[in-house]
This record gives sequence, structure tokens and C-alpha cells, in this order.
Amino acid sequence: MLGIIGGSGLTQLANLDVAHREVMRTAWGEPSGPLVFGKLAGQETVFVPRHGYGHTIPPHLVNYRANIDALRRAGATWIVSVASVGGIRADLGPGALVVPDQIIDYTWGRESSYQDASPSQVVHIDFTKPYDQAVRQAILMAANRCEEPLSDGGVYAATQGPRLETAAEINRLERDGASIVGMTGMPEAALAREAGLPYAALCVVANWAAGRHDSAKAIKFDQIEAALQLAMGRVRRVIEHLELP
Ligand code: HPA
Repeated sequence: MLGIIGGSGLTQLANLDVAHREVMRTAWGEPSGPLVFGKLAGQETVFVPRHGYGHTIPPHLVNYRANIDALRRAGATWIVSVASVGGIRADLGPGALVVPDQIIDYTWGRESSYQDASPSQVVHIDFTKPYDQAVRQAILMAANRCEEPLSDGGVYAATQGPRLETAAEINRLERDGASIVGMTGMPEAALAREAGLPYAALCVVANWAAGRHDSAKAIKFDQIEAALQLAMGRVRRVIEHLELP
């Protein structure tokens, strides 16, 4: 079953034929909201909105462990995470869709592992390629099927938030090799790997990152809203065309 984590601008899936909702509790606490089960273009799907249905949970307070664990226990066998980001790379302006292939983690103080304080055995995960290649390909092929242009590859910089970055921080991220910047990509991706769930992200560029182009002086929040509104229709189309990898 396909699991979808919705980000800003995607708190529900309009085209999801809802069968039922389920409040789930996990050993890690409660996920961001009740899970929604249904069919999306004929495919069994389970959905959770990362920031809650009323968009009330900021990025640093999302219970990433509970969200991933709830999806796994609900029967999700692969996960597509939708996330809004700022564009750093010159070709990734507002409205661009990106399937990143790498991550740099700048977050701190988040519960970022299922290994608690006293595991019986310390287990390390391989994270050389943080996103599952088959799920990435499934997203790219879905975009191809519905003829949505999409950028294949890029480095996702995960920042702590909830504030946006300074212009100097964005310059530093660019020097580090980052293409896009967002606040929720980690620890989500690492937890999915720990949980053994193939996971990839479909990112929507909502704004130029701080200091760039029309964000040179400030980031305008009404523009973010407008860009997300426009782009989420396209994201929904891509998601509808997903086929099991
Ligand atoms: N920075 C971090 N996260 C974001 C941004 C940004 O510019 N835009 C949307 N999410």
C-alpha cells in the first residue's frame, strides 16, 4: 500500500476516495493526525498530513517517529513524502517540482532514531543514498505519464526552522552543495530507512531561498501561498499517476 505524507499546502488529498479514518497511537506517541485510508486512482493509499489537518504543528515539533511508525503499522509498504522547499539552485524557482537524491541534515534536537536510550544492540543504517531509488523512479515515471516537468536530482538541505534562513545561511548551504532547502526532510527520511520503508520525496519549490532573486530583501509569505496553491494541483496529478515500484 502507498503511504503519503502531505506537507504545507497538501493537508488533504482531494482525489482520495476516502474509505475510513483511524486514530492511531504508537510507542512513539501520536502521529500528526488520524490516518486517512482510501483509494487514489484505484490504488490503496494511506495519508497523513505532516503538520496536522489544521496546519498546527511546526516542523521542529512534528512527531516524525510516530508518523512513520503509524504508516508502517497501517500497512504502507512505500512512502512518498510531499514537502515544500525554498529554491537555491538557479534553475529551481517557485513552482518547480524536484525529486532530490541527496540530503544534508542541519537540524538539531529532534528525536531522530527508533533506537532508544538503552538498545539491546546498536544498529547502524546505511544512508549513502538517503532516498529509495525505486520510489524515486516511480515518482519520475508518474510525472512523465502526466507530462509534468520535474527535476531529477538535487541536494535537500534540512534546516531546523521554524524561522526561515538568513541570506548568509543560504550562501553557506549553496557552498555546501545544496539545491533546495526545507525544514522537514530530516529525520523523516532516516526514520523511514530505519523502519525498512522505501521512501522518497517530491518537493515543491514555494519561494526563492532567502537573499535570492525576488527574496533578495525578504521572503513574501503571500507569494509562498500562491505558489503552493498553484503547484499542489500538479503534485496531485503526479501522485495520481504513481504506480507501485
Ligand atoms: N526555507 C526553508 N524551508 C522552506 C522554505 C525556505 O525558504 N520554503 C518552504 N519551506
